[in-house]
Amino acid sequence: MALLIRNGEIITADSRTKADIYCEDETITRIGPGLEAPPGAEVVDAAGRYVFPGFVDPHVHITLPLVGVSAKDTYETASRAALIGGTTTLIEMCCPHRGEDALAAFEHWMAQAAGRSACDFTFHMGASRFDGKTEAALREVVRRGVSSFKIFLAYKGTYGIDDLELYRTLQLARELGVVVAAHCENETLIAERQRELVAAGRTGPGYHHDSRPPAVEAEGVHHLLSFAELTGAHAYIVHLSCKLALDEAIAARRRGVRVTIETLIQHLLLDKGLAERGGFEGAKYVMSPPLRDAANQPVLWDALRDGTIQTVATDHAPFDFSGQKSLGLNDFTKIPNGIPSLEERIKLLYSRGVREGRIDLRTMVDVASTQAAKAFDLFPRKGSVQPGADADLVVFDPDFRGVISARTHHMNVDYSAYEGWAFQGRPSVVTVRGRVAVRDGVFTGDPARGRFLRRTPGRA
Ligand code: URP
Ligand code: ZN
Ligand code: ZN
Repeated sequence: MALLIRNGEIITADSRTKADIYCEDETITRIGPGLEAPPGAEVVDAAGRYVFPGFVDPHVHITLPLVGVSAKDTYETASRAALIGGTTTLIEMCCPHRGEDALAAFEHWMAQAAGRSACDFTFHMGASRFDGKTEAALREVVRRGVSSFKIFLAYKGTYGIDDLELYRTLQLARELGVVVAAHCENETLIAERQRELVAAGRTGPGYHHDSRPPAVEAEGVHHLLSFAELTGAHAYIVHLSCKLALDEAIAARRRGVRVTIETLIQHLLLDKGLAERGGFEGAKYVMSPPLRDAANQPVLWDALRDGTIQTVATDHAPFDFSGQKSLGLNDFTKIPNGIPSLEERIKLLYSRGVREGRIDLRTMVDVASTQAAKAFDLFPRKGSVQPGADADLVVFDPDFRGVISARTHHMNVDYSAYEGWAFQGRPSVVTVRGRVAVRDGVFTGDPARGRFLRRTPGRA
């Protein structure tokens, strides 16, 4: 089956070109002006539209057990929502608890995705302890095509690893050429500050920030990168939220530490005042690291523009407000953390980033697609528009105007942190390896087209 996308402006991380794109089966085979389609080919007219490489979200949770409940999406719901929003590749975290068998967890996470995803996917393999059995499992998972680990320095007792485990995990990653994605917050400080706040009767969602202020995150970044420096491992800091933490990462980079930095669309656009909203409304905005003082946002945008921060992800974690977030009604430490955003990342990055002059179009492609593909051994198959790449393409209508609402989104969660936000620009056609999957906000594709992407460490 052939596909021709004609008359669009192709935007990559380093170029803007008016040209047609011809795809055969799953792959882009030709790019140039005035390409002809053979009889029977599907033709998409992209006049007046941008054509982007499919976007890659490198940090997603679809199911995630936290404080006794699980994030609510399934691969069916999350992959459709992702595609409608222009994201064609997901990297989910396979997330075993400390007590769980890592290989069994990997197989469980794979079973949740295989044959049920409309878009392509892969995993970061969670390392939530380190012993002989876990090491063997991690080696086996790498053999099965996973080239990144994920660790938590937070979530004491469930996912968090201690310093010896951290050191050994990074040594193994260095040996295997695997990148280590890390949630950087000091778990001991969090646990103690939570205890102090709750004991003082400060139990509302607005106190979540005080339990893990910027210094707690900055210490986590410094901590991780000291270990990365000693082991030579490549570290990927997930959801960096503030200037203090960024300064630590920059200092380590100057010392020669290999570190890639991710921020989130939430930290770029939402601030801590939202979590301080009256009643229990603020619980919708509880995530970790917390939403920060708005003064951090221009620092993050600047760092995206100048290449200090490489990626923008969502850390999508869909916990309902009613029945899940509400578990923390009398104690903010029991609110499951996360702000669902998978479907909204690209339209927000375009509306608030590009249209409002914070980043240009090429930077948008770079931070939302290309850099993630490079960091996680998917480039140039993903993250690029070039012959030989997978035909994952986003034809983007810059003039469409809409309003975000939980009533119309496709994520399986009962609220939107962006309820009522106006946006301009959205994907009008999205393809998954050469087949149209979305037209004008409606999923029209094959619900099981998505494949597990086998990755080889260090190829990018
Ligand atoms: O609040 C967050 N970030 N929830 C998802 C789990 C994690 O820490 O990544
Ligand atoms: Zn995290
Ligand atoms: Zn996460």
